[in-house]
Amino acid sequence: THQWRGIIEEYRDRLPVSDSTPVVTLREGGTPLVPAQVLSERTGCEVHLKVEGANPTGSFKDRGMTMAITRAKEEGAQAVICASTGNTSASAAAYAVRAGMVCAVLVPTGKIALGKMGQALVHGAKILQVDGNFDDCLTLARGLSDNYPVALVNSVNPVRIEGQKTAAFEIVDMLGDAPDVHVLPVGNAGNITAYWKGYTEYAADGVATKTPRMWGFQASGSAPIVRGEVVKDPSTIATAIRIGNPASWQYALTARDESGGFIDEVTDREILRAYRLLASQEGVFVEPASAASVAGLLKAAEQGKVDPGQRIVCTVTGNGLKDPDWAVAGAPQPVTVPVDAAAAAERLGLA
Ligand code: F0G
Repeated sequence: THQWRGIIEEYRDRLPVSDSTPVVTLREGGTPLVPAQVLSERTGCEVHLKVEGANPTGSFKDRGMTMAITRAKEEGAQAVICASTGNTSASAAAYAVRAGMVCAVLVPTGKIALGKMGQALVHGAKILQVDGNFDDCLTLARGLSDNYPVALVNSVNPVRIEGQKTAAFEIVDMLGDAPDVHVLPVGNAGNITAYWKGYTEYAADGVATKTPRMWGFQASGSAPIVRGEVVKDPSTIATAIRIGNPASWQYALTARDESGGFIDEVTDREILRAYRLLASQEGVFVEPASAASVAGLLKAAEQGKVDPGQRIVCTVTGNGLKDPDWAVAGAPQPVTVPVDAAAAAERLGLA
């Protein structure tokens, strides 16, 4: 009876559902807000990590997907479709199983992490690899949902944003007010849109006394919002945010400007440095795209943009197990020992 009930039940009065809506849930949300000791020391601030990799399919997408699949079910859909860099497809596939629906996913060939592909496969999704990037996949998915009986569950579907805004509610509920700054990675820009919606709703209703400044970070090779133009051939090791023409571009600019924040870029090298810092010094294993928020915070701190004493939340969007190649790459190979305590002790430096 004390289990977290999922975001729709926990925030029912703030979401577009009615008493008769058939809720499809995996009890998503209720994710940990973890104090980040090393990042706090480095920045002179009170830094927290919103660990969205703790969601049922390992990313924040579950918040939006419980809403999207619930509403699709309510409207009688038998099939759903999405374009994805991996996490949306993993989430859609799982929630479609719960709803008894067919799930089709379009992914860029060779550019999604193995763990995410495995999730879509094991949940029985119909996967099409597209010779193109995420932006091409989204164009195709929109065309299919416009012309065939299949519901689109990408974040261009506004109920996805409704679900994802609950992460901001959880943060305010936990901290007692909004933070001063909220930092997150930006790909298709749905999530920064959703957080801003959540924070502004809570502030408008007096649940929070303020809204945070929103700081978004794109990967340098995939930074259309920073450049102010579409990136035709986006590249980054953070495949989740390898997006050249974000669907929620305008909403991201609104979040940036209304909040007094900014959107900047971080290099793959900075992303990987933050990825390793999070794992080796904070004990939090995230996927590379997720580390873009922390890489951005560290970059901003080095540039003197971070005033000490502030309360800052960084969303880390997906679980490290999704894309373990980067954990293994460049790490020292484990040594092999016989079943022998003395040999093991020597290798461990204990003897
Ligand atoms: N972090 C992760 C782990 C993601 O999977 C995504 C987006 C983002 C950040 C960026 O969020 O698009 O709302 O700005 N992944 C989408 C997908 C594109 O298909 O899974 P955004």
